[in-house]
Amino acid sequence: MTTAVRRTAPPAIGVASPRVEAWDKVTGRAPYAIDHPVPGAAYAWVVQSTVARGVVTGVDTSRALAEDGVLAVLWHGNAPRLEPVGDPELLLLQSPRISFRGQVVAVVVATSPEAARAGADLVRVSEGGTIADTVLRIDHPALYQPVEVNAGYPARSAIGDVDAGLAASAVRVDATYRTPAEHHCAMEPHATTAFWERGCLVVFDATQASTSVHDVLAGLFELPPSAVRVVNEHVGGGFGGKAATAANTILAAMAARFVGRPVKLSLTRQQVFALGGYRTPTIQRIRLGASAQGELLAIGHDAVSQTSQLAEFVEQSAVLSRHMYAAPNRLTTHRVVALDVPTPGWMRAPGECPGSFALESAIDELAFAGNWDPVRFRIDNEPPEHPEERIPFSSRHLVECLEAGAEQFGWAARDPRPAVRRDGEWLIGTGVAASTYPAITWPSTALARATADHRFDVEVNAADIGTGARTVLRQIAADALAVPLEHVAITVGDSAIGPATVAGGSMGTASWGWAVTKACRLLRERIDRDHGGTVPDGGVAVRADTTLDVRDRPDFARDAYGAQFCQVRVSTVTGEVRVDRLLGVFAAGRIVNPTTARSQLIGGMTMGLSGALLERSVVDPRTGDFVTGDLAAYHVAVNADVPRIEVVFLDEEDPHLNPMGVKGIGELGIVGTAAAVANAVHHATGIRVRDLPIGLEHLVPRTH
Ligand code: MOS
Repeated sequence: MTTAVRRTAPPAIGVASPRVEAWDKVTGRAPYAIDHPVPGAAYAWVVQSTVARGVVTGVDTSRALAEDGVLAVLWHGNAPRLEPVGDPELLLLQSPRISFRGQVVAVVVATSPEAARAGADLVRVSEGGTIADTVLRIDHPALYQPVEVNAGYPARSAIGDVDAGLAASAVRVDATYRTPAEHHCAMEPHATTAFWERGCLVVFDATQASTSVHDVLAGLFELPPSAVRVVNEHVGGGFGGKAATAANTILAAMAARFVGRPVKLSLTRQQVFALGGYRTPTIQRIRLGASAQGELLAIGHDAVSQTSQLAEFVEQSAVLSRHMYAAPNRLTTHRVVALDVPTPGWMRAPGECPGSFALESAIDELAFAGNWDPVRFRIDNEPPEHPEERIPFSSRHLVECLEAGAEQFGWAARDPRPAVRRDGEWLIGTGVAASTYPAITWPSTALARATADHRFDVEVNAADIGTGARTVLRQIAADALAVPLEHVAITVGDSAIGPATVAGGSMGTASWGWAVTKACRLLRERIDRDHGGTVPDGGVAVRADTTLDVRDRPDFARDAYGAQFCQVRVSTVTGEVRVDRLLGVFAAGRIVNPTTARSQLIGGMTMGLSGALLERSVVDPRTGDFVTGDLAAYHVAVNADVPRIEVVFLDEEDPHLNPMGVKGIGELGIVGTAAAVANAVHHATGIRVRDLPIGLEHLVPRTH
């Protein structure tokens, strides 16, 4: 039987299509990493260091091994050897050295999770510790300027002369902002199921990046690429915390090899705080100067952050200040210090999130000092092209976002004077901040197959970490094939499909979607050219790779923009801050699915609100321990903290991105939220809070 490929179908992009896996998720049928049923599985439990700097001087496993059900204890004296693959943090149980508190020093494998946990309590680890250096300070003597910061940006950029620009300015701001360490707190903890089969390693992993986990495992265990398979069919949240290959993944594979049976390893919530990555704290100095007419003359942004003794990870906090506003004199710098701490990691809008708190607060401070409206001031300093790279923006509609947001929020009626609007015990204020995030596209591969019964199977090793990736990729495939959505089946989350990029950097839809589009278009051409427009009995399959397409794009500054408006109430009795209203207007290219896109932005803004008011990982300087190591102590916003959040997308056509014209939306929503809240708090109270999270301690003694 052969079937003609149908050419007419309504567009599938732009449709509010429900999630492909919605029923599986709400009925509990969607298997997460630890859920995969594997016969004969053993369970692993990690033992962590209690000092932040030192060495393991001895491991006594005798009592643990005597415990019922305990199969093995792995430590650096007996663990399988790993081949170095670059990042020393991946070399688990390879040496006695301790580089941070909570580092894995042993792993107990047992026939049940309970036995593994009991065994872990019985492992006696002797540690020689020395005084640890765990606290970031602006005057830390070991601060240095790295060659580059994350995402490959240069650490420093300079145009003109900032000091001269400031000297020539009529209005100036020079202020230092602090953001705390933060943890992602994804609902699903880091977890892995691993087994070996005829020399091949199979891993079900809670990861945002099964291609890179695949490559790392092949390297560490010296396996040919075809002998490793990493499956991440469903992932319960990531936010960057599952972007890098994690300890649980490597340890589960080691343990499975050691005991010769499948091993499941789930970190506890508390363990994730040391082993699941975190956002570095930052200290940022912003200097701004403007003419008496409100023209920005100087922008200086100096960012300081921390890394570990094991790897250099430098948050790119000042990078957004290179393109947000026009000014003839500009300077951005980054410095970092290596402390006895876990290596910081990616966390939702790394760089832009903490950076925007500093820059967008300072812009508000400057506008206030100059008696300029903060919306108008931003619009008046809109750059015509990238002000440092001197290349055109592929598209940029920040001004339109500010204008539409001001209109919808009712900004024109705002009395700019702070601390004048009162409702009983509450002071009320409003604030605005801009958002931005790079529109990144990386190479990926995808597979498209047509079968004779008029079905299309599309495979791409995307990770759906709760975003709706699977759903929008199916829409993109149906659109490129010009067939109804129901004719397309989509498979994601398996390294066996072929290489594809991480669910991170807000690049997923753009990157995977391009590969899907290319594969689907090639498939359609192939059916027409080689098969006269009908699918033969054996089907037709096409694989596409976008490496060259992505590489050969012309130079543009590609970023998404937005504007966030916030209303807060601050209690003059308790100092409590409540967010009454949050409105975000975004221009992020073409929106593939308004439902899932709206969820992404609401999620980002919620996380931004949470960071503004609640989230803070506190380190005990004596031990290097994150003492806020659970959800009782590390507070995240809950329903009662979150008002109705309004999200508006402006239509944005951008032909310079990718065939779908999409920009990323996973991170844009968290950028600027904290500044919008802080600016609203200032408007409400007259108090400028420059340290996150904004707490009672900033407001209580002064609102009375
Ligand atoms: Mo996101 S922090 O780039 O995974």
